[in-house]
Amino acid sequence: MHKLACPKCHQPLVLDGHSYKCQNNHCFDIAKSQYINLLLNPDKSTNNPGDNKESLQCRKNFLNQRYYDVILNEVVTYISRHNCRHMQILDLGCGEGYYTYRMKQELGDNCTIYGLDISKDGIQMASKYTKDIYWIVGNSKNIPIQDHSLDVITALFTVVNAKEIQRCLKEDGYMIHVTANNKHLIEFKELIYDEVKVKSDEHIRLPFETVKNYDFQKTIHLKNREDTLNLLKMTPHYYHIKKERRHVLDTLGEFDVTIDIRITIYKMS
Ligand SMILES: C[S@@+](CC[C@H](N)C(=O)[O-])C[C@H]1O[C@@H](n2cnc3c(N)ncnc32)[C@H](O)[C@@H]1O
Ligand SMILES: [Zn+2]
Repeated sequence: MHKLACPKCHQPLVLDGHSYKCQNNHCFDIAKSQYINLLLNPDKSTNNPGDNKESLQCRKNFLNQRYYDVILNEVVTYISRHNCRHMQILDLGCGEGYYTYRMKQELGDNCTIYGLDISKDGIQMASKYTKDIYWIVGNSKNIPIQDHSLDVITALFTVVNAKEIQRCLKEDGYMIHVTANNKHLIEFKELIYDEVKVKSDEHIRLPFETVKNYDFQKTIHLKNREDTLNLLKMTPHYYHIKKERRHVLDTLGEFDVTIDIRITIYKMS
């Protein structure tokens, strides 16, 4: 049973033919490729918010080479060790959907999964992986999910809104937050920037009780130029390369790069 809610009035959404409707008659059509657009105009900052098509395509190509499956494994292992009954799981800022899809594959029929992203292009791409996930165009600041109905929220490298997370999670629910540390992709930063700044991560910490918090580091070997460029192009660093540094792109081939992330599990009570 799904837990979708109307983004306008927050009442439950009910399937009615090819649309979802709430008791106040707000109506949202299901797209041909089966995703649902629940992004309201006031929740958009531009006509086409979120990651762009090129970046999403590079992300898809890169993730499907499975270099980042080490990250996926951390997430899936935690969920499968801590839940046994049927679960409601939301992947916030799911992008082109790779991790969400793999979570569904790994966790099987024991869960209802939602993938939400503000990028329509991202959700369109995601809906090609499988129809067994509720793919939603939406804003993490106004999550179209009923109050206290989720067991798990995952958020990998994306913006989150603490109030909305607290509203959507059950009292005994938890959140898995994956964030980048300073050494993450440091080799790219050293190539691109004159000076690599060390940033505090205070602003991405959430005001919830931390159950577990650990760093994960690994150097991965990218096998060829295509994989290296895909990884670079799926990050904001690519868009920050100054004209006079553009030539470094020509020299890129196989590449050793560091994954340096923090995985934080938060609970609500
Ligand atoms: C760095 S990507 C990460 C995507 C995916 N979690 C992954 O790791 O492959 C960040 C994603 O957050 C999405 N995003 C940005 N702001 C958002 C918002 N307010 N609500 C929902 N998604 C958002 C972007 O469109 C983008 O797909
Ligand atoms: Zn409504």
